[in-house]
Amino acid sequence: MNGFYHIITYGCQMNVHDSEKIAGMLSELGYESTDVIEDADIIVFNTCCIRENAENHAYGNIGMLKKLKANKKDLIIAVGGCMPQQIGKADILHKKFPYVDIIFGTHNLGNLKTLIAEKKNGKKTVVEVLTGDGEVCEGDNPLRTSYPNAWVNIMYGCDNFCSYCIVPYVRGRERSRLPENILSEATRLIKDGYREITLLGQNVNSYGKGIEGASFPELLENIASVDGKFRLRFMTSHPKDFSEEFVKVIANNKKICNNVHLPVQSGSDRILKAMNRRYTSKQYLEKVEILKKYIPDCAITTDLIVGFPGETDEDFKATLSLVKEVGYSSAFTFVYSPRQGTKAAEMADQIPEEVSKARIMELVELVNSQTRSQSVKYVGKTCEILCEGYDDKKEMFLGRDEYGRMGYFKCDKNPVGEFVNIKITEANGVSLYGELLK
Ligand code: 5AD
Ligand code: SF4
Repeated sequence: MNGFYHIITYGCQMNVHDSEKIAGMLSELGYESTDVIEDADIIVFNTCCIRENAENHAYGNIGMLKKLKANKKDLIIAVGGCMPQQIGKADILHKKFPYVDIIFGTHNLGNLKTLIAEKKNGKKTVVEVLTGDGEVCEGDNPLRTSYPNAWVNIMYGCDNFCSYCIVPYVRGRERSRLPENILSEATRLIKDGYREITLLGQNVNSYGKGIEGASFPELLENIASVDGKFRLRFMTSHPKDFSEEFVKVIANNKKICNNVHLPVQSGSDRILKAMNRRYTSKQYLEKVEILKKYIPDCAITTDLIVGFPGETDEDFKATLSLVKEVGYSSAFTFVYSPRQGTKAAEMADQIPEEVSKARIMELVELVNSQTRSQSVKYVGKTCEILCEGYDDKKEMFLGRDEYGRMGYFKCDKNPVGEFVNIKITEANGVSLYGELLK
């Protein structure tokens, strides 16, 4: 044992899984995990830069470590991931926080052990951010922390360049893992007792570009055919690459959850064009129709942005109307945040904060009311829940149903990792409460 590590993760599931890879590397170096930051000998910030507030959280928390570092000279502080990967950001971080020991980007996450060795060999600050398109990583040994769920990368990067989005600049070009490598990872995980596999990519529907014969529907079908009781999920889908064949595969495979995250971003064609989303609201709704036709009970979720440059009241109304038409089971709603280096950040007519705030409140209210009205329909019904853990405050076990709703229930033994049936007695937003059926 070499000491303790503490990892702080910001952002998306991709980052959550990257942190599991970081944990794997630290454990290979002989470190053990601690929840108590003051006890840590190495603290790693795995950062996000998708919106300004994600960066501000990280700045605040890195700033708070100055005192800890002053009192504990051997403490190693590492800041990595999307924030330093932005052009010029590593320098800014270094100047702002000279006590940070290691700065690394998204493309060299796999080098962390070497960077730590450099630091231990006496280098004052180790800064390594690789430029270029990024590579496909194989041979990672993640220390998984989300049993019974397991994240599996199927592709890295994004080529879509939506005009508001920083991801293509910090995650590099789109590149897919070989299907046989993904299949063998998933098979191993299922054999090891994982009950839910979530395939990760910025744009899973374009999986397989550049690999002969590989496609996302085929990959899904192959993983769903692995023996054993488990659920298969994936995120995120881009509407422009979303095909009928893919929907049929979901419909025909019981193991693939009837829950599709299909980010629309806006309901206004003018704004969708300025966002470079490459579909109109009509084309989006056609894809939703296909989903509903083959999978009538499909829970559709989405991402929405308000306050994109030039968004008028009319544009915003179009978003509200699309949300009503689709009937999302839930949605992530965001206020547009200008990101340096993206096209949208240069656009005229940035929307005042108070306008965006009023719009997001109205949108959140609409989304929540839809979620509530869908959830109450569950009362009296039986749901199959995959138990994920225990909620200390509620003193209840919790888990999700196939549609992504959280179910809480009491049980006198530990059912984590098991599929259980609960009879729903109460609904509160996306949360359901029920009684365990024996
Ligand atoms: N501002 C606000 N939201 C953004 N997203 C991506 N970039 C921005 C930005 N600059 C949202 C999109 C995307 C989700 C992951 O984050 O809705 O789908
Ligand atoms: Fe960003 Fe668009 Fe790529 Fe999603 S598809 S990561 S929103 S550029």
